[in-house]
Amino acid sequence: MTDKTTQPRVLIFDTTLRDGEQSPGATMTHAEKLEIAALLDDMGVDIIEAGFPIASEGDFAAVRDIARQAKTSVICGLARANFKDIDRCWEAVKHARRPRIHTFIGTSPLHRAIPNLDMDQMAERIHDTVTHARNLCDNIQWSPMDATRTEHDYLCRVVEIAIRAGASTINIPDTVGYTVPRESAALIAMLLNRVPGADTVTFATHCHNDLGMATANALAAVEAGARQIECTINGLGERAGNTALEEVVMALKVRNDIMPFRTGVDSTKIMNISRKVATVSGFAVQFNKAIVGKNAFAHESGIHQDGMLKNAETFEIMRPTDIGLSETNLVMGKHSGRAALRSKLRELGFELADNQLADVFVRFKALADAKKEVYDDDLIALMQDSGTSEKHDTLQVKRLRVVCGTEGPREAELTLTIEGVDHSIDATGDGPVDAAFNAVKMLYPNRAQLQLYQVSAVTEGTDAQATVTVRLEEDGRISTGQSADTDTVVASVKAYVNALNRLIVRRTKSAPGSDVKSVNYRDAS
Ligand code: KIV
Ligand code: ZN
Repeated sequence: MTDKTTQPRVLIFDTTLRDGEQSPGATMTHAEKLEIAALLDDMGVDIIEAGFPIASEGDFAAVRDIARQAKTSVICGLARANFKDIDRCWEAVKHARRPRIHTFIGTSPLHRAIPNLDMDQMAERIHDTVTHARNLCDNIQWSPMDATRTEHDYLCRVVEIAIRAGASTINIPDTVGYTVPRESAALIAMLLNRVPGADTVTFATHCHNDLGMATANALAAVEAGARQIECTINGLGERAGNTALEEVVMALKVRNDIMPFRTGVDSTKIMNISRKVATVSGFAVQFNKAIVGKNAFAHESGIHQDGMLKNAETFEIMRPTDIGLSETNLVMGKHSGRAALRSKLRELGFELADNQLADVFVRFKALADAKKEVYDDDLIALMQDSGTSEKHDTLQVKRLRVVCGTEGPREAELTLTIEGVDHSIDATGDGPVDAAFNAVKMLYPNRAQLQLYQVSAVTEGTDAQATVTVRLEEDGRISTGQSADTDTVVASVKAYVNALNRLIVRRTKSAPGSDVKSVNYRDAS
């Protein structure tokens, strides 16, 4: 048996709340960000990048409040290479027991052209901004954005400047997901060999998944000497996303024989946070996603099932319980009591206070009435749905009745509670969902365009619950809503209303197009 405690430690830096949230439509509320940060802290993530404080008042408040609540994790905020960004970042992270400022500038030829700085001017800017940050905080991370497309000589020069100016972590981003594993490893090895002082700092790897190699690139960088992996839950992030936390953590655990590194992450907490991030971001996890996908541990074929029954290791390289999945799929029904529900939910990773349990129990009974057998996935969908229907939302679905079939117009009668007052209307449409959405639009006129409408069955059978995801776009603002119900039309309307409620919150948070994250992100000045 290998003694893992003597193995080199790889720090896990989670950026779900910054790079992940930057993904169009993945906007999370303040309360959701705090909840996710608490889960990350609790599962042993070393550094949480909580947001980009200068981007908006909301981002600032989230980073500040996460900093205040953090128990063990280092809390990091992002700042471009200017004093204003860095000061604002410090104002937010300084409340943490262990604060960090992460400042960056694009160093590749394409990125240098944006602020119109030549190589020397940019080098000076890096020196000045890292020095300024270091005067505020003793834990500084610096990133040359688009490092994988930066000339090696220049990269070595600027990394050395950042180290001399006081950065203790140097992050090497593959911003556009361009590199491949052997190049990712060679880049870290080159920097460790050539840059004076490289042995005094921690090198980090930050990979994007545009070519589907983010996890492989991150692990290759670690083998070459990087000791911090930047990643997000479910691989959430712009375009094809970032390195997935669950993939690198489990790869280092399962293949510890050839990658002898340890992390501080408790892998049994992975499934719970994965579900939470999927719910609040509105980005459902694809069924065949490694580690956390619904099918990751499902064995459909006869040969596999037979092998599994004889010896699980025949077809499984890790146990479901390693990531916090329960092994039993105990069926619950309308006779199951409160204690059984609490224990089942605890097993699935949901810890509820008494008043929350009372609320969920009522909804569970309604579900058990509609559907004889309630499976684990039904309970998870029910919990995810309770996470999205807030009592203080502007719009709430009170009553819905639809008429559909082969004849006559499809009609919907809808009552919406809008800011506490009930409003009712009848509407028609091409089908029941169209009629119901038209009714919402008539009661709450809005310019939001439907970008995505997606339905998936939670379990098998015609009485299965449907999970519906709706994505809306209005003046460049994107919001996503989700809901689950045994009635697909009800789930659809609730998901639509949920997305509208999120859009309403976004409207009050930012003027159209004022989001620094989307329009100004690459501007370093
Ligand atoms: O991908 C990237 O380059 C980034 C930097 C801000 C670190 O996210
Ligand atoms: Zn990134």
